[in-house]
Amino acid sequence: MNNKVKKIINKKNKSKIICLTAYSKKVASILDRHCDLVLVGDSLGSVLYNYKSTKDVTLDIMINHSKSVRLGVQNSLMVVDMPYNTYKTPKEALKNVKLVIKKTKCDAVKLEGGRNIIPIVKTLVKNKIPVMGHVGILPQTDKKFTFKGKRMSEGEKILEETKLLENAGVFCIVLECIETKLSKRITDQIKVPTIGIGSSSNCDGQVLVIDDLIGMTDNNFKFIKRYANVSKIIERAVKKYKSEVKKKLFPKAKHSFKN
Ligand code: KIV
Repeated sequence: MNNKVKKIINKKNKSKIICLTAYSKKVASILDRHCDLVLVGDSLGSVLYNYKSTKDVTLDIMINHSKSVRLGVQNSLMVVDMPYNTYKTPKEALKNVKLVIKKTKCDAVKLEGGRNIIPIVKTLVKNKIPVMGHVGILPQTDKKFTFKGKRMSEGEKILEETKLLENAGVFCIVLECIETKLSKRITDQIKVPTIGIGSSSNCDGQVLVIDDLIGMTDNNFKFIKRYANVSKIIERAVKKYKSEVKKKLFPKAKHSFKN
């Protein structure tokens, strides 16, 4: 097993696993100094391209952003989201995942789903490909984005699916918007780490979309905490630039060339 994957698994019950998304090199290189895992999430569809759904994200888009991220990630485990409709069957998944790994040199891939993707996970794992699971809200296929585990039956189904995923060989599982007591039950009952987003501090690790965390989106989902307002910083800098250009304060002689 890949050493970086082992390191993630070994953190369970020892120290929290720090994960964030990245879509490009510079941001990825900053995250690489602080994160255990950097995810090229298909959330880039809404964050960067204004797509209504992650369904519109293509393999080419994921590959291009992942190549950029790879330039910034040396230490963390780099995981790439397989986009919608690229892993409908084990054969299709294997072909597309191999392409993603070949082109991006990522360490692992993430797939959304439960029971329906078990044969796919098994095929990938058999081919020595590290797979991260993703249950709870499934942005690629869910119609409503409400938290999961409100009803007992739904909670039992999700718990069961995490066990199936674990047995199929995933090395960790994202729990997206899962009710607090259910995320504890899942985290306690499976051996691989759980990575929460909107699923309470019961999880073994946490993930957020970096653009949400630094104030580069207008998203205000309950689970987001904004740690900085980078939009404001950019706005201030652009205003200053505009004013200096107008007043001929920029560029100065030191920014210009002279024979
Ligand atoms: O696409 C994404 O960014 C994700 C994480 C938020 C878990 O799947």
